Amino acid sequence: MKNIVVLISGRGSNMQAIVQACAREAWPARVAAVISNRPDAAGLAWAREQGVAALALDHKAFESREAFDAALVELIDAQGADLVVLAGFMRILTPAFTAHYAGRLLNIHPSLLPSFAGLHTHERALAAGCRLTGATVHFVTAELDHGPIVAQAMVPVLDGDTPERLAARVLALEHPMYAQAVRWFVEDKLVVDGNRVRQLDGAAQLWT
Ligand code: GRF
Repeated sequence: MKNIVVLISGRGSNMQAIVQACAREAWPARVAAVISNRPDAAGLAWAREQGVAALALDHKAFESREAFDAALVELIDAQGADLVVLAGFMRILTPAFTAHYAGRLLNIHPSLLPSFAGLHTHERALAAGCRLTGATVHFVTAELDHGPIVAQAMVPVLDGDTPERLAARVLALEHPMYAQAVRWFVEDKLVVDGNRVRQLDGAAQLWT
């Protein structure tokens, strides 16, 4: 039984999809805790209602990024984490943090990486005139929004799209894709070879 710790900063809809799929599909894992750097994150209240440990570690209480990350590592490790899942966790992580969880730290980003790392991805995809955008699940390395890609979802950009409409269509694919990717990890189905991640059963790693 693997312990998953999910880090959030806000509504936590990806976290909810993972908690629900884990229970519904009886993964060999449990969500041991949900941790937010914002004590008022809506996702924390939801997790608590589901009986999942919901913890806050307010980054504003720390003098430096390094000090916050060190405290976060302590809190995560106290939950016995085998896998750390970033789900809308709006913090830049220190190299010490990413090194500590190398190979067991996943993130979801709302663009087809390596395009549009960073913030405001949907605005930027629209401004660039992209006809295709999407979302990416990847292992986290020291470089922001980089690292071996586990799965990607393709979402067409439609005439008349706004960032909000595009975000909603991308999010609808993020949920099942992220849950599936986390399930693959806890079932030991992922092999990382350089930048390439292989799913051992040959399952499709591209969502449309
Ligand atoms: C998602 O779009 C995710 O890709 C990005 O932040 C958003 C988080 O949404 N990293 P939620 O908190 O999971 O609802």
